[in-house]
Amino acid sequence: MRLSVVVSLLFAIPLGLAAAPPAPPPPPPHPAPPAPVSVTPDFTNITVFTPPSTWGSRRTSYARKTVLRHDCSNTILAVFTASFPGPASIPVFQSTDGGKTWSMLSQIFFNTGNYTGGSIAQPFIYELPESVGKFPAGTVLASGNGIPRGGASTNIEVHASLDKGKTWEFVSLVATGAAPNTANGAHPIWEPFILYHQGQVGVFYSDQRDPLHGQKLAHQQSSDLVTWGPVIDDVAMANYTLRPGMTTIAQIGNGKKAKFMLSYELGLAPGPVPYAVGYRLSDSPFTFGNEADLQIVASDGTVPAAGPYTIWSPVGGPQGTIVVSDSTYAQVFTNTAGGDPTKWVKQGVAPDQGVSYTRSLTLMPDSQGKKVLFGNGGLYGLSSAFVTVGEWVIPGAPVKDEKCVPGA
Ligand SMILES: *[C@@H]1O[C@H](CO)[C@@H](O)[C@H](O)[C@H]1NC(C)=O
Ligand SMILES: *[C@@H]1O[C@H](CO)[C@@H](O)[C@H](O)[C@H]1NC(C)=O
Ligand SMILES: *[C@@H]1O[C@H](CO)[C@@H](O)[C@H](O)[C@H]1NC(C)=O
Repeated sequence: MRLSVVVSLLFAIPLGLAAAPPAPPPPPPHPAPPAPVSVTPDFTNITVFTPPSTWGSRRTSYARKTVLRHDCSNTILAVFTASFPGPASIPVFQSTDGGKTWSMLSQIFFNTGNYTGGSIAQPFIYELPESVGKFPAGTVLASGNGIPRGGASTNIEVHASLDKGKTWEFVSLVATGAAPNTANGAHPIWEPFILYHQGQVGVFYSDQRDPLHGQKLAHQQSSDLVTWGPVIDDVAMANYTLRPGMTTIAQIGNGKKAKFMLSYELGLAPGPVPYAVGYRLSDSPFTFGNEADLQIVASDGTVPAAGPYTIWSPVGGPQGTIVVSDSTYAQVFTNTAGGDPTKWVKQGVAPDQGVSYTRSLTLMPDSQGKKVLFGNGGLYGLSSAFVTVGEWVIPGAPVKDEKCVPGA
């Protein structure tokens, strides 16, 4: 049957040619050019900063970064801990070529107490996506845990830059705790993380001040960055001994269906994996307090541990891809099922980033959702380290890049 159809078609062609020339067919709809799929990173290991050999302390740690999108420049700002000469500061480095080259841009100095001989731990940097109080969209915010000379207190301050990280102003002291001490029963605070949501900024941190919890995760909200609301629990466990720590939060999904995921390490976790990574899902980043604790166990049985950092990309299917880094494995853990705890995969190909203490992840814009910039400040407690960045490509179907509109 198929043959006879072909034969009759062949005979039909000369007949058609013999007739009057037909009107030209309408032009086909202009096809969109096939989207190029990035399969290789632009670079995997670029050094941002190495402390000079002459420095007394050559420690670095805790690399964090943000990509400036409000002006569509895609400038990357990075912060980390390092012992620059003079009073303790958070160094701010800048890359204007997607992370290939870096230079020092500024230093952030803390306000509460004397930082000559003090330190600033656990820095964080964030571009404000909307205006809050007198701070317009595109303001760069930074925080950290300031420990002034003498080491008697821990202080989470917020600083702002209105000129893309060149100069900084002190905005507010969000919270103060006692001297740094990770033993249960001591009362410090740690590890700030900043996120904007629906007109408010949340500063999320680890909190040992509550007598009911060795350590819990909590946050405070502000609608002007100056005055801060009450301490609201995010992850506070019934067992006093347990120490959930190191909040990072990612929006999972887009639009009305978006959820938020808060990942944490569980210090003194029962079970075989110390600092096993747990997480909660919620409709708002301000309402994790009553949600269930879930644990990441990859399909091969691996349990990531310590210092997790979580981001989300729309790449890889209808629910996008959650990517979690930890402080134990070079690989990352992904989930394309909206955080379903039975659907975690340990990626087989190790990013060329090495393992580092609380290695950070940043989704790179204009990469079709595919490229993640890793930030590595060295392993925990090294007396000499350096800061590197490198890209890794998320598996799965790419998405169309959103067109960036300056000032939007
Ligand atoms: C901070 O401490 C240093 C070292 O003791 C001292 O020289 C300096 O004057 C102090 N600064 C302030 C503002 O008190
Ligand atoms: C509380 O957590 C600690 C540390 O994991 C564990 O040893 C202890 O058994 C837990 N207590 C209860 C009542 O579950
Ligand atoms: C990254 O490069 C530095 C400097 O060459 C090197 O010491 C380090 O081992 C590299 N990291 C990885 C994970 O290969």
